[in-house]
Amino acid sequence: MTEEHQVIFFPSGKRGLVPENTTILQAARRLGVDLDSVCGGLGICSKCQVEPTFGEFAKHGMTADPNALSPWNAVEERYRQKRGLLEGRRLGCQARIAGDVVVSVPPESQINKQVIRKEISARPFTLEAATKLFFVRVDEPDMKSPTGDFERLRVAMKKQWDLDILPPELSLLSRLQPVLRRGNWEVTVAVHTAHDNERQTLIDVWPGLLEESLYGIAIDLGSTTIAAHLVNLETGEVVASAGQMNPQIRFGEDLMSRVSYAMMNPDGSTEMTRVVRETLGELCSGLVKEGSLVPETIVELVFVCNPIMHHLLLGLDPVELGQAPFALATSDSIGIKASEVGIMDINPRAQAYILPCIAGHVGADAAAVVLSEVPNQSEDLVLIVDVGTNAEIILGNYERVLACSSPTGPAFEGAQISSGQRAAKGAIERVEISPATKEPRFQVIGSDLWSDHRDFRKSLGDTQITGICGSGIIEAVAEMRLAGIMDQSGLIGSPKQTGTRRSIADGRTYSYVIYEAGGDPLRQIAVTQADVRAIQLAKSALYAGARLLMDEMGVATVARVVLAGAFGAHISPKHALILGMIPDVPLPKVTSAGNAAGNGALIALCNRSMRTEIEAVVGEITKVETAIEPRFQEHFVAANGIPHGIDPFPNLSKTISLPTERFRAGGNSAADKRRRRRKN
Ligand code: FES
Repeated sequence: MTEEHQVIFFPSGKRGLVPENTTILQAARRLGVDLDSVCGGLGICSKCQVEPTFGEFAKHGMTADPNALSPWNAVEERYRQKRGLLEGRRLGCQARIAGDVVVSVPPESQINKQVIRKEISARPFTLEAATKLFFVRVDEPDMKSPTGDFERLRVAMKKQWDLDILPPELSLLSRLQPVLRRGNWEVTVAVHTAHDNERQTLIDVWPGLLEESLYGIAIDLGSTTIAAHLVNLETGEVVASAGQMNPQIRFGEDLMSRVSYAMMNPDGSTEMTRVVRETLGELCSGLVKEGSLVPETIVELVFVCNPIMHHLLLGLDPVELGQAPFALATSDSIGIKASEVGIMDINPRAQAYILPCIAGHVGADAAAVVLSEVPNQSEDLVLIVDVGTNAEIILGNYERVLACSSPTGPAFEGAQISSGQRAAKGAIERVEISPATKEPRFQVIGSDLWSDHRDFRKSLGDTQITGICGSGIIEAVAEMRLAGIMDQSGLIGSPKQTGTRRSIADGRTYSYVIYEAGGDPLRQIAVTQADVRAIQLAKSALYAGARLLMDEMGVATVARVVLAGAFGAHISPKHALILGMIPDVPLPKVTSAGNAAGNGALIALCNRSMRTEIEAVVGEITKVETAIEPRFQEHFVAANGIPHGIDPFPNLSKTISLPTERFRAGGNSAADKRRRRRKN
């Protein structure tokens, strides 16, 4: 009888007895240990590297003798000389077990590596890409058993990898014969496994062992900007990122104006589809170039987008989304070929996955936020707001999750603001106003110094101060309220009322000058009364959406608030609370989640099980429709005050005291009038 030996794997801690002469790779498979292999144990891919440890392991009651593994063999030596192998490492498919042994599997040899992104507060996840590489040896054709090359490949895949592959599409079939012969009957195949039915599709085939990794692109298709991340599907590493403005802006800044464009123009929808696909194609080709990759190695795309972008991407007319009951053509997730949405300069058989939409106004981007922030697993009641031209709002905990969207408009992104601009070099992004002197100081993108620092000018170099971006305008308006330059109703006071010459007459209202530009009125940057009104409308829409969800949930408060979105990450929680953008919670309970929708796209790209998970979770989310809910209007009107017309903000008042003075239009405050009455 064959002798058996104890083997323990780390970091999993999995252990068991295996017969002498078993390879470490075979032992790992038998014990369910995550050890990678592309070549199936032929000693050519090096994915199975392990680190055996020898010595006394009292805790495990085991001694691992240096002879517990078969000696270093010729295959390992050839590999070491050709590619190099770290000291102490063995190839798991070559080293055979000859005694009790402890084996560590380094992170790069694990198939389902854990991916943790430090730069964003993201949910950690494991790698489980939908498309993977497999090295396979195929039988040569034989006159006596006349089967086709594909059939022999299929048999080999079943035998060597236990995979049942579907017949390839014609474009791949025509490549198969020359590639098999060029590889001398050894090929690497890329196989896509559908997450919902385990269907296995051949994506591509290369002669011999493919040295390159496979890649995917996660795309966050927003109505204003498009962001794309190129990801190595074997390591989870983001190797390049790129962004572009959505070219559909020329058809309408916000979503509804794009729907109207589609309604009013016979080819409007087709035209918007064409331009966005063109830009997506450029973005993808740019990433391939930046990463210096072979285009055929890009095999997966994942899209997240709002419902209107979703329809326009797919070439579906969004007209139904412009009117109640806001019916989507389909709300389910979509799996298609990337070429069907016009992405050409990558693998021609690359697969594209679009996350499911939650409702006619709450799209795949909101689903991606849920995937990233997991409100459905939260112990406490969390409100997540993804701030953009359209805000997605999610409220929930492990018991129930609700979602809605709210039409905030582009003011939070610096649009519709007199000195507004994109968050780019030269934009004012942070503002403070002294309540004592009413003097502002600010920070500009491109410099780390505040404007009152003596080296501020020098630090700017040749960067001009050109405008104010979304986070800047939010801080400016909140600081104006804090410093008593603007009252609770949002009215900017006169120089007399506010006590500062920076309050300047602007028609029948007043503006507050943040940057004087040496007295040049053309370059001066001020917050006008109309700017304040635009911010009030946007923040009221956001707050009203959140309150609607709270009503539906039957709660008056939430435990914490998460600000999401590329822009949400830059909003200061203190200023968001002063403005009343979000319900009142203690300041430390407001956090930023970075670009949660983009992060959800990355998770779905790297882990196919997460696609199954989000599809199930989305089915459980209760959708609340703001557009037809009469209480939305009530909440919207009440939220116009800063921070609010009616709702008390007890947590905010504990730490910040806001001036109570009320101004009157025309430049007289109530106090002025009282003073005058007393004098008379
Ligand atoms: Fe490929 Fe070991 S499994 S080298």
